Amino acid sequence: MAGKTPDNWHARTKAVHAGTRRSQYNEMSEAIFLTQGFVYDSAASAEARFLQAGPDEFIYARYGNPTVAMFEDRIAAIEGTEAAFATASGMAAVNGALASMLRTGDHVVSARALFGSCLYILEDLLTRYGVEVTFVDGTDLAQWRAAVRPGTKAVFFESISNPTLEVIDIPAVAEIAHAVGALVVVDNVFSTPVYSRAVAQGADVIIYSATKHIDGQGRCLGGVILGTRDFIRKTVEPYMKHTGGALSPFNAWVMLKGMETLDLRVRAQTASALAIAQALEGDARLSRVLYPHLPSHPQYAIACAQMEAGGTLLSIDVAGGKDAAFRFLDALEIFKITNNLGDAKSLVTHPATTTHQRLADDRKAALGITPGLIRLSVGLEDAGDLIADLRGALDAI
Ligand SMILES: Cc1ncc(COP(=O)(O)O)c(C=O)c1O
Repeated sequence: MAGKTPDNWHARTKAVHAGTRRSQYNEMSEAIFLTQGFVYDSAASAEARFLQAGPDEFIYARYGNPTVAMFEDRIAAIEGTEAAFATASGMAAVNGALASMLRTGDHVVSARALFGSCLYILEDLLTRYGVEVTFVDGTDLAQWRAAVRPGTKAVFFESISNPTLEVIDIPAVAEIAHAVGALVVVDNVFSTPVYSRAVAQGADVIIYSATKHIDGQGRCLGGVILGTRDFIRKTVEPYMKHTGGALSPFNAWVMLKGMETLDLRVRAQTASALAIAQALEGDARLSRVLYPHLPSHPQYAIACAQMEAGGTLLSIDVAGGKDAAFRFLDALEIFKITNNLGDAKSLVTHPATTTHQRLADDRKAALGITPGLIRLSVGLEDAGDLIADLRGALDAI
């Protein structure tokens, strides 16, 4: 049965205890209910449950599962939303949130600086079903103001964009969106639940790829959609239930365990990310160091007002372009070349040739995804070792 989570607990306490459901064995660690279904006491109880399942009554793992419910309740408690629906991946969450709420003829305004798969959903997929999408420079409030109109159903943006780390002013965009009755849908992956204050800042729907910091150890795919009870139960749940993007109970268990150390990991990784950004800024072999809490960041003031710290990701631009970037990547010893982020291990990505390869060169240029741009996801290793690894690789270019 689900235990109570006192509202006055701090996020760190909630991250360890919220949502815990114990079976009749009163196990200490959360159980993995690795089952697709549930047995009913009688035909009549099956009928009753299909008619209206109670909060601790489950039908089929595509609809819900006790381990998945623990994860949903825990992350909703931390984020401060009424409800959550867990999904098979971050992209299942982005698609589930948008596709479940939109209809043919609806209008959406989206920031143009998006992760490649988010861009696919907004630009290629939703438009195929007759949803009109207007793209704006997410950092330019005048463009948001000009793009929204009565009948705009939603605005969508990554609160910190992947990989150029543009910071969107959540309260200002929310005010513009709410004035026309649009929902504010935020992909909050780079902010992490540790630094997020998205609900207080006006977000209506918050999305995480749990694959990133929430697992935090590169093991499982997962995602989550957070919002009001009404939105999650009436809009998201029927769509997800019937289209099959559910989170596996095993992965939910990994995410639950990940949440216990989320705050400690993210704060330690963030401290190292800031130290690295400060150490690299000004290096003549780099044309840019992008980190939200560096005073040189174009949205530094917004980033400071919006987030207690700058997060675990930074991007650097190697002055010599793609060849120099590749030499740099190949010379790294601790940082691993991959496309994930938010891991305990430090990771590097060359967006122009991987996550954003699909974009035409002129669009990459407009978004600042230059041939020399490299995204760094800072892990839990010693910050001095990481700085030495990066400096050694810069010497090799
Ligand atoms: C901003 C953002 N949104 C969504 C996703 C997708 O998450 P997943 O890989 O879990 O589907 C990613 C993954 O890199 C991301 O960076």
